[in-house]
Amino acid sequence: MDIKPTLDLLHQQIPFVPELAIILGSGLGPLADCSEANAGTNIYFRDLPGFPDQSVIGHSGRLIFCELEKRKVILQAGRFHYYEGHPMSLVTAPMRIYGRLGVKVVLLTNAAGAVNPNIQVGSLMVIKDHINLQGINPLTGPNVEPGTRFPDMSSLYNTKLRQQLLSAGTRHNQELFEGVYLAVSGPSYETPAEIRAFHLLGADAVGMSTAPEAIVAHHEGMLVAGISCISNMGAGILKKELNHQEALNFLMTIGLNFEKVVREFVRELIV
Ligand code: HPA
Repeated sequence: MDIKPTLDLLHQQIPFVPELAIILGSGLGPLADCSEANAGTNIYFRDLPGFPDQSVIGHSGRLIFCELEKRKVILQAGRFHYYEGHPMSLVTAPMRIYGRLGVKVVLLTNAAGAVNPNIQVGSLMVIKDHINLQGINPLTGPNVEPGTRFPDMSSLYNTKLRQQLLSAGTRHNQELFEGVYLAVSGPSYETPAEIRAFHLLGADAVGMSTAPEAIVAHHEGMLVAGISCISNMGAGILKKELNHQEALNFLMTIGLNFEKVVREFVRELIV
């Protein structure tokens, strides 16, 4: 996907060069409706060349350039998933764009199911590392310069940022923990056998996003951090079926804690 027309358009419209981009996962959108966001510059995906219109599926997908805790940020409300049938180049296009705009840090957030049975629903997991089982690497195809062809992934989720997220949680009496995120393509949820297998593989949580964006953001030279909000236990852990709407409703109840931790992280961010 050619991001140049979008970059040209953004360069004309954006009020500043943001230092941080925050990608808000499903159910975590309320931060995009805060007063700072309302006062910011909202640019809808549908107005960006080459981006599909998300409004048909009830998402008001947009980029918000605003100040949050006195920092210049981009809030990304809505994201593109591989399970929607989008090519990886679109799924990860926002990361390419942020890199070219001069963003230094990307905070990826998502809703995820617990694979580790000791994790509690409603808790917040700082992503320590990931296992990408989406079946495709987002860097497939011609290399996008100046990133290297075979980028190292030994410390994909930046150690200092992970520490800062944990500290932000502690300051809010919200115990965050670190864990491994496993990315599947979806859209079906996992079978109980898959959840047990993923746990054996070393995963703590499972979700349908984040890994491709993290890889591309790193390839762009940005520092990456990630938080998973545990919206449900993985299939088979509890004797009940998984329900997307229930998980979304549940996220609304942890949204406030999530927002506090994110704000604290932003306020104290040191890069
Ligand atoms: N599986 C995959 N993706 C998810 C889940 C899950 O249980 N919960 C939220 N996103």
